[in-house]
Amino acid sequence: MSAADAPGGVAVLASGEGTNLQALIDTAAREGLRDGIALVVSDRAEAGALVRARAAGIPAIHLSPADWSTRAAYDHALADLLAERQITLVVLAGFMRILEAEVVQRFAGRMLNIHPSLLPRHRGLDTHRRALEAGDRIHGSTVHFVEPELDAGPPILQYRIAVQPWDTPGRLAQRVRHGEHFIYPLAVRWWLQGRLDCTDGQAYLDGKPLAAPLVVTRDMAPIPG
Ligand code: GRF
Repeated sequence: MSAADAPGGVAVLASGEGTNLQALIDTAAREGLRDGIALVVSDRAEAGALVRARAAGIPAIHLSPADWSTRAAYDHALADLLAERQITLVVLAGFMRILEAEVVQRFAGRMLNIHPSLLPRHRGLDTHRRALEAGDRIHGSTVHFVEPELDAGPPILQYRIAVQPWDTPGRLAQRVRHGEHFIYPLAVRWWLQGRLDCTDGQAYLDGKPLAAPLVVTRDMAPIPG
């Protein structure tokens, strides 16, 4: 499914600081992303993302996992909330929970994630430290459609940087995040324009299958991977 079929808005799910959310808010304000961001949901009351959403006048909801007896019940409540609000695209931006497979399937082709590594390398946590320890010469971040398996799903865009001898996990995180703030709004824009689609586990851009993610480097211009 792509935006061409769907009238509703975008929801961003975030647990942390929300700098990717901020990049989306800024892009929406600057370029009038269709319908802007309709809703922000966080599992953490203290998430900076909620503060950023409220400052931008976006409905922001803290959905506390403590209010549900099981992980599955929480995930279904979250999915029901998104459906009630007629959310068409779910954007995971540092949402630190693994969603139930059923919930992910409910939003198949309508849920994006950004992961701070060049997937399939370094799924999971602590990616910058692991990239350094592995001696990776290239590192970065990946925007992908979400599938039930953790940090899997058809990749769309990657931001790639060369690892420098003086890099630390913190420095890498900072440089990678800088690129994330470009590639995530770009992918969301494509989806909202109906250019991006996912069918049967295959991502398409402008109707053409993406055999590999498009690659963005420091000049911020996407090229085939
Ligand atoms: C980003 O690095 C993203 O790749 C990962 O979580 C981080 C979120 O950062 N999924 P922020 O909250 O958007 O600043």
